[in-house]
Amino acid sequence: MKLIILGPPGSGKGTISELLCTKFRLFHISPGEILREEVKKETTIGREIKKYIDTGHLVPSQLVVEFVKLEIQRRKNYILDGFPRTVEQAEAIQDWNIDHVLYLDLDQEAVVRRLSGRRVCTKGIHNYHLTFLPPQNLGRCDIDGSPLLQREDDQPAVIKERFKVFTVETKPVITYYKQKGLLRTIDASGTPEEVYAKILKIIS
Ligand code: AP5
Ligand code: MG
Repeated sequence: MKLIILGPPGSGKGTISELLCTKFRLFHISPGEILREEVKKETTIGREIKKYIDTGHLVPSQLVVEFVKLEIQRRKNYILDGFPRTVEQAEAIQDWNIDHVLYLDLDQEAVVRRLSGRRVCTKGIHNYHLTFLPPQNLGRCDIDGSPLLQREDDQPAVIKERFKVFTVETKPVITYYKQKGLLRTIDASGTPEEVYAKILKIIS
């Protein structure tokens, strides 16, 4: 199964991807995570990428498409989390035979609530929320035990910019997949369990 999951920042793409990967043994491909890893390495390219992420802007599409292609190699079952984010990226993967494009629909107010309380493990893979999805041990990841941190782009001004970028650059991708008949829109305002249940109904 080949899935795409899209939605504004904080809509739950990462949270839902983790659940779907466990259930359906999918490979999780998140350009956001790949790019943050590159930033951590402090390479020349990593320093360039950081400028885009820290200001809430998209990293140039050509680079992101290359990273995703390298990750995906010959994999048959995967979920693309937050990719494609521009029509240019969508066109670059038009022959990938995607089964469903899941669109998590959420308003800006809820996005701010979710992102201001989000904490991620040191590896940047597992997501928590101080109120909505707290870890069992305060400040520690339930899965790998690493300390929980706040993401640098989860500052109020950057969150606002990321939402704007989503509206301008990624909404056209939603329209693109709607026209292709692949789009499944999900109201993402419920609890993670409710949102996940709606998605299972759609894909099974
Ligand atoms: P990326 O890392 O993908 O960030 P994002 O799209 O802004 O989305 P987030 O990861 O912030 O949120 P999410 O939807 O995964 O929500 P989560 O599950 O964590 O990208 C970062 C940057 O990388 C971009 O700004 C850009 O610079 C660059 N980039 C990435 N992809 C790119 C591309 N294709 N092209 C160019 N540049 C790219 O949930 C959020 C919080 O809410 C958590 O605390 C969680 O516990 C909680 N939560 C989740 N679900 C629920 C629920 N149902 N109810 C209550 N709380 C919930
Ligand atoms: Mg994410």
